[in-house]
Amino acid sequence: MGEILAVVSGKGGTGVSTVTAALGYALSSRGQKTLLLDLNFRKCDLPVLFGAEEKIAWHLLDVIEGNCRIIQAMIPCRKDEMLYLLPSSAARDLRLIQKSSFVKLAELFRSSFDFILLDTPSWPSEGFSYALQAADSAVAVTDSTLLSRRNTERMLLLPEFDSVRASMILNRFERKFLRDEGLPAPEDIARAIGVPLLGIIPESTDILLFSEQGNIPEALKKSPAKCFDRIAGRLLGEDIPISLKQ
Ligand SMILES: Nc1ncnc2c1ncn2[C@@H]1O[C@H](COP(=O)(O)OP(=O)(O)O)[C@@H](O)[C@H]1O
Ligand SMILES: [Mg+2]
Repeated sequence: MGEILAVVSGKGGTGVSTVTAALGYALSSRGQKTLLLDLNFRKCDLPVLFGAEEKIAWHLLDVIEGNCRIIQAMIPCRKDEMLYLLPSSAARDLRLIQKSSFVKLAELFRSSFDFILLDTPSWPSEGFSYALQAADSAVAVTDSTLLSRRNTERMLLLPEFDSVRASMILNRFERKFLRDEGLPAPEDIARAIGVPLLGIIPESTDILLFSEQGNIPEALKKSPAKCFDRIAGRLLGEDIPISLKQ
């Protein structure tokens, strides 16, 4: 039975879509069949990160409304067919579907995927609350800034998190934050927010560059590959220590 993991944030632009795409790629590289489900209605960022916009034929809403078969809407993101994405609709609104229909669909994917990652718009949003309704676990993506830390902390106090296992990823980390700018250390951020630290992702020009080019897999051939692989390993229950070097 696959695990449904919502990737969420308390503030926009912290890297939710990037982390969803890269973590999905890392999980699939470890032999985990993974589906990326885009809940950014009217935006649709995941296909852009995989350079797959031209392959979009149908959307999540079409699947739920029965306009197409599930397989017709899913876009393969690698040759070995271990990673797929299901785009949301760039033109239509999530509120057109009932939460229960979405949850039913997400449940259906459990039998064919090991991981179903939900890419969500930042809280508060419809996509966020749909994702939390379906998810077993949630990972909050935050950066080191005060606004991101505060909003992550506030978000994780919501009753929606009572029934999901929550953890956090610190994204866009730079050592100079500690040295020059006096921002808190990653483990202190996690302690203040009150959830386990699942991983640290450095600020990376490879991530920035290759996501601009719609080629997130290429970014993962470079230095960030290790940190996403380690996060994937932790999700699979491996005891991999957190280190600032990664
Ligand atoms: N670790 C990172 N290093 C460098 N740039 C990053 C990193 N993570 C995200 N970005 C960049 O930050 C911007 C916002 O990321 P995105 O994933 O769209 O955020 P969100 O989905 O939370 O709005 C993008 O331009 C992305 O390439
Ligand atoms: Mg996004």
